[in-house]
Amino acid sequence: MNIVVTGGAGFIGSNFIFHMLKTHKDYRIICFDKLTYAGNLSTLSKVMENPQFAFIRGDICDRKAVDELFQKEHPDIIVNFAAESHVDRSIEQPDIFLQTNVMGTVVLMDACRKYGITRYHQVSTDEVYGDLPLDRPDMLFTEQTPLHTSSPYSASKASADLMVMAYHRTYGLPVSISRCSNNYGPYHFPEKLIPLMIVNALHDKPLPVYGEGLNVRDWLYVEDHCKAIDMILHGQCNGEVYNIGGHNEMKNIDIVKLICKHLGKSEDLITYVTDRKGHDLRYAIDPSKITRDLGWCPETKFEDGIKKTIQWYLEHQEWWRDIISGEYQNYYKKMYENR
Ligand SMILES: NC(=O)c1ccc[n+]([C@@H]2O[C@H](COP(=O)([O-])OP(=O)(O)OC[C@H]3O[C@@H](n4cnc5c(N)ncnc54)[C@H](O)[C@@H]3O)[C@@H](O)[C@H]2O)c1
Repeated sequence: MNIVVTGGAGFIGSNFIFHMLKTHKDYRIICFDKLTYAGNLSTLSKVMENPQFAFIRGDICDRKAVDELFQKEHPDIIVNFAAESHVDRSIEQPDIFLQTNVMGTVVLMDACRKYGITRYHQVSTDEVYGDLPLDRPDMLFTEQTPLHTSSPYSASKASADLMVMAYHRTYGLPVSISRCSNNYGPYHFPEKLIPLMIVNALHDKPLPVYGEGLNVRDWLYVEDHCKAIDMILHGQCNGEVYNIGGHNEMKNIDIVKLICKHLGKSEDLITYVTDRKGHDLRYAIDPSKITRDLGWCPETKFEDGIKKTIQWYLEHQEWWRDIISGEYQNYYKKMYENR
């Protein structure tokens, strides 16, 4: 089995590659990644020598490069993680989100049609459903919830999902889609909430929290997400959409306080900054379809997952220190200074 993982030098894609190489030792895994600011080849260093693994640098929007990938590697399955993934950046510069997240998906699926595959899997997000009220804990996103996006990021992901279903219906392309809640764990780029707070707290820097920090997210340990995708690839899931979530709703401010507690830092580091434009209030996933159909359940409790994650950032300082010393510094200043 040859599996192409696009965006595999990023956070979830790299964790997925490690999971697949560990659990399916006879599979060949090919990572295809453009290495944008969010992609990091050092993340993949521990598998670079594995004969079952190959890395190819390339852009999913580049038809010629994607054609060459298919001609060389003859993939059976494509798992598309490649995306511009940060909401704040989408508010600053929406066009690259349309290009990568929508056009890149179309280019990949065109190649799937041309060369033939057994499954194209689209890694999507719960953000395609918009948000839920804070005072209605009974309301959850199901696969039937209408797409109702808020940010250029979520609009681009929803557009890609619609194209995936259109290719399935129109051309009979074998596809599946997973819509997951917020992930956390190792190799998470330090612009996102949890790693940002860990790294800042370790430097005794202010912990910038949007608004009053009351926004709620449903956090899932990244390994549980990877296991869910593995199950979808191996199940009778052609044409199906699956929600994946951790049954673990938490307010942003509570996460930040928990990180302070684990690192022995004062909550005085918390600074409230002007809220994100159009900030979604609450996401909450009903994952009962994937549990019923495939037997998937989240395995890592948040208390354990967050301890493991903090420990990982303490033990892998060279990984994130390299990242934050570069271009990221300019981005950080733009986003949080004078806010
Ligand atoms: N992080 C989350 O909590 C979360 C939750 C649900 C869904 N998702 C989805 O999962 C996927 C992966 O998210 P992530 O957090 O790992 O993202 P990430 O930003 O950490 O990684 C994205 C990767 O895609 C690569 N990439 C970007 N543009 C590319 C292009 N044109 N061609 C090839 N490669 C390209 C980058 O180099 C990077 O390695 C995304 O599609 C995202 O929408 C993420």
